[in-house]
Amino acid sequence: MHLYIGVYICTMNINDFLPKAYTHTLIDDSVSYEAPSNIALIKYWGKHGEQLPKNPSISFTLSNCKTTTTLSFEALEEELDEGYDFEVFLDGEPEPGFEPKIEQFFNRINKYIPFLRQYRFKIETSNSFPHSSGIASSASGMSALSLCLMQMENLMQPNMSIEHFNEKASFLARLGSGSACRSVNGPLVVWGSHESIEGSSDLYGINYPYKINEVFNDYKDTILLVDKGEKQVSSTVGHNLMNNHPYAVGRFEQAFEQILNIIPILENGNLDAFIHLVEREALTLHAMMMTSSPYFILMKPNTLQIIEKIWNFRRETEIPVCFTLDAGANVHVLYPESHEQRVLDFIKNELVAYCQNGHYICDSVGSGARKL
Ligand code: PMV
Repeated sequence: MHLYIGVYICTMNINDFLPKAYTHTLIDDSVSYEAPSNIALIKYWGKHGEQLPKNPSISFTLSNCKTTTTLSFEALEEELDEGYDFEVFLDGEPEPGFEPKIEQFFNRINKYIPFLRQYRFKIETSNSFPHSSGIASSASGMSALSLCLMQMENLMQPNMSIEHFNEKASFLARLGSGSACRSVNGPLVVWGSHESIEGSSDLYGINYPYKINEVFNDYKDTILLVDKGEKQVSSTVGHNLMNNHPYAVGRFEQAFEQILNIIPILENGNLDAFIHLVEREALTLHAMMMTSSPYFILMKPNTLQIIEKIWNFRRETEIPVCFTLDAGANVHVLYPESHEQRVLDFIKNELVAYCQNGHYICDSVGSGARKL
């Protein structure tokens, strides 16, 4: 369902991502990329077709939470008829648990990256954050792997433009994990067609194209690890809960409106309005989960304690700190760099007690993925 029918200013369609004839051949080599995680301000929750969002979303690209991937390849004597020849290593150790997700990803991108069956691949990956932190590595991981494959394609087709490289990397990453398409660029990325965001597309993420107030430069995100366990609800199950959800239509409509609302906020740096929008989005995401069938409560008692403390601190100090949430119990604490010391003291003195093993991660807004 799209409310703003009409002028979508999307420049590309899926056929633009089918490869052109390759002019160079690759035998064996390796390519490496690091890609960051991202945190949505306006949330994507609900998809259709092949990994297409039901509403546009916008995120801050992070800086410290990232995945580094090296893709080594060796040309096979004969192209495989089916399946793929690859192995995956996490922190230097074989990780067969990742294989089904990568195989599904390869199946989805095979027609856009037709050399997948012509090579034996070794995928070596590591995350800057602990695997058991409850922070999903799918966004940064799928983005890093997509960028490595694009780097291979670029070597086979060297006249590719940087714009096409980035758009196709984001397009591929989306097919691995929706929000991964927002982990190629930075500092603010929009994914999903919206008539008021020039160049926006359901197929890939774009850099937010309008003015960004300097208060958002170096914005901080301190991630409080409330629950480091496995996700209670997988993304796929979660998104499907929006099918036949009684409030889905209203929610998608609201997300389209929130994109309109955030444009002046990003320009004028009105942090009261920013806080209102961001916290409302986080709570709406959880409200959707609490009212779906089946229903889930993904926040923990400590999540609520932290939210309460943040609200008290904000009221008492007038420091513009706010929270957002992913589909889990961890809390992202967002604030401008100018208040970093006061907020970090507050976190250490009052919030760490609610974190599992006292763990939290300090991050800030970043500029996107990087070739190594
Ligand atoms: O990319 P997925 O399918 O894991 O979905 C992510 C959804 C949220 O993190 C809850 C929201 C978002 O926009 O990132």
